[in-house]
Amino acid sequence: MTIAVRSFAKINLGLYIGAARADGYHDLRTVYQTIALHDVIRVSVGRGSGIEILCKNKDPRVPLDSSNTCYRIADLVLNELGAKSRVRIEIEKRLPVQGGLGAASSNAVATMLGLERALKKKLSGAARLRIAAQVGSDLPLFLVGGTALGVGRGEEVYPLPDLPSVPMVVVTPAIGVSTPKAFADRDILMKSKQLTPPGASDRLFEVGCVLSAWLSDLPKSGLPNTGASAKGGSRAEKLLLDLVRTGIENDFEKVVFPQYPELRDIKGALERAGAKYASLSGSGSTLCGLFRSSAEAVKAANRLRRSGLRAVATRTLTRSSYWKQLSVRE
Ligand code: C5P
Repeated sequence: MTIAVRSFAKINLGLYIGAARADGYHDLRTVYQTIALHDVIRVSVGRGSGIEILCKNKDPRVPLDSSNTCYRIADLVLNELGAKSRVRIEIEKRLPVQGGLGAASSNAVATMLGLERALKKKLSGAARLRIAAQVGSDLPLFLVGGTALGVGRGEEVYPLPDLPSVPMVVVTPAIGVSTPKAFADRDILMKSKQLTPPGASDRLFEVGCVLSAWLSDLPKSGLPNTGASAKGGSRAEKLLLDLVRTGIENDFEKVVFPQYPELRDIKGALERAGAKYASLSGSGSTLCGLFRSSAEAVKAANRLRRSGLRAVATRTLTRSSYWKQLSVRE
């Protein structure tokens, strides 16, 4: 039997990079948000051994060997469960490769969930998170879904209130950005500005305070303004406007935009098309914009497509929808 799982993408609502750590990673703070765009992962098991990876759309940038995140996680899951099987994993690629949407990480988590089901065995929640973090910093968020706070190197994730779905536009330029290189470039930039630790961790603390105030709906001054937020539009819209006011940002823009000025232009185009908040996602090259209504998002995507960009209107995905829509019935 083949188990098919939707492998949803994520965006980052703000991403703050701290100091480089002794283990080569960087401390960071980010708000992850799953979105409705997805790949599909099909997992089947049979007698024998070995892990086979197939990519339906044959993107040459998707490795089919043991370096693939799906292979790595399948190997770890088999070991953890003490299972001996031949595993076949088919990746139906729709999301951009190296696009900052967490596709490779999400593919791996979908593989884990599909493989558990195919083997009719279950890992504990803690084991899932531990194995996911072993494969990459961006995997555990896909075991939470919806809106989640990411700390540590991004692998430590905490679910945030399940906000209503927000209309958005995703633009995927044909540029692949290497995340390790973007982190290294960020270090060079910090050094050139003589912004070395502990300044970086002080900044992360400050950002933590801003995020905390934003998430708990605290006003900038005075007493909590609960009446106004209950009245004035949906909570999602309120948060959206707060985001804009807070000036929440993605630190990767400071190193990626100078290297690819066209990405800065696309962010500008999203804003001119009516986005209330536009940003690079992760280290890019995907850009996304949040909109007040689906009609505005569709109109903006059409306008961006007319100017030659690959743009699609979609929505953020709440935690409950994420888990409900994970299984594909075929
Ligand atoms: O965790 P993941 O395997 O996705 O990370 C890929 C690379 O990105 C790491 O080897 C590291 O160079 C860089 N990275 C980092 N700080 C993080 C996450 C990733 O420097 N918080």
